Amino acid sequence: MAIIGAGPAGLLLSHLLHLHGIANVLLESRSREYCEGRVRAGVLEQGTVDILDEAGVAERLHREGLRHTGFEMHFRGQRHRIALDELTGGKSIVVYGQQEVVKDLIARRLADQGDVRFDARDVKLSGVETETPIVRFSHGAQQVELSCDYAVGCDGFHGICRGEFPAHVLKTYDRIYPFAWLGILAEAPPAQHELIYAHHERGFALFSMRSPKITRLYVQCDPSDTPADWSDDRVWSELAIRLGTGEGWRPTEGPIIQKSVTPMRSFVAAPMRHQRLFLAGDAAHIVPPTGAKGMNLAVSDIIVLSRAFEMFYGRGETRGLERYSDIALRRVWKGERFSWHMTSMLHTFPEHDSFHEQMQLAELDYYTGSRAGRTTLAENYVGLPIESI
Ligand code: APR
Ligand code: PHB
Repeated sequence: MAIIGAGPAGLLLSHLLHLHGIANVLLESRSREYCEGRVRAGVLEQGTVDILDEAGVAERLHREGLRHTGFEMHFRGQRHRIALDELTGGKSIVVYGQQEVVKDLIARRLADQGDVRFDARDVKLSGVETETPIVRFSHGAQQVELSCDYAVGCDGFHGICRGEFPAHVLKTYDRIYPFAWLGILAEAPPAQHELIYAHHERGFALFSMRSPKITRLYVQCDPSDTPADWSDDRVWSELAIRLGTGEGWRPTEGPIIQKSVTPMRSFVAAPMRHQRLFLAGDAAHIVPPTGAKGMNLAVSDIIVLSRAFEMFYGRGETRGLERYSDIALRRVWKGERFSWHMTSMLHTFPEHDSFHEQMQLAELDYYTGSRAGRTTLAENYVGLPIESI
């Protein structure tokens, strides 16, 4: 099998197939250092942690990850806690950077002598409608050609695999939001233990962390902003205004070691299979980061797909491969809905009026004030079940 893209989706698939004795080659256009250094979100659903655990790649995650049994919603200057464990029968989440998951998976693939080719240039796919798709790429001075049974596009939103679906086969659903997030990593101990999602008339803000020494923070900004528009002073003063409480709490400041702007988009491409080409993760769908579903959806796609391949290579059954797209998409759409809802409830929209702001506040009152509302947030946040194939 050929897997294109060594993000969390491609790496996990490659590892799980290897555990089931299914030979695969993983092609990545970037260097190992680049993949390991890319700063992304950092919340793992309970189910994602369990999957990494079962796959034997969660040792450092258990040591260094921060287990959280709740998070806070902040509006009208006050905090409201969502007790994840109490509302979901004991479930929780773990804060552990995506690039740490990537590092752990790369280390494991290499320790197992997996065939992972970083710096693979000009990857091209052909023959996905035939029995033996072909992947061509250049690697150093070499031109390489691989024929495979199946190809899996785990090559992210800007990858090449989605483009191999004929236009009449693929339907896309898209929403671009009129704002972005400016994210920072600061060398400052997190001023409180749990995440805070804040609604404020000046725009959304999020308080998160990576370790006992590093705080991760975001503020809603204009999509055309660049990090240069946000001086350190401006970032800290907006964070204090949007996240601060009447009792004088505000995030602890420290040197800012990373600053970047993340655009906000919801996107789904369906189906996720065309003949002998499958898509998984960001190659097929993206969510705005509010609710931290991106990597978790990539992992659930891979679980469904790896089980389908186990059924095929182990018992010759094609049923799983046939059902993959429908099963994966049902969960993807629920993740899309939750991310869209959290985004809509918490951000200021340029086209909205004061009536809309009151609707958001009433919604926040409901989702934090009623046990049913809190349960809905909590069960989505810790992760909905993965349907068996
Ligand atoms: N050839 C080979 N590799 C490619 C190509 C290509 N033509 N195009 C892209 N890639 C690689 C990228 O360099 C990247 O390493 O595919 C990988 C895709 O990884 P991700 O973007 O991390 O996607 P995925 O594994 O689906 O993980 C989804 O990533 O963006 C976040 O929020 C998202 O958390 C979610 C997660
Ligand atoms: C993060 O820590 O980077 C993070 C946390 C929660 C989100 C998004 C990002 O919803």
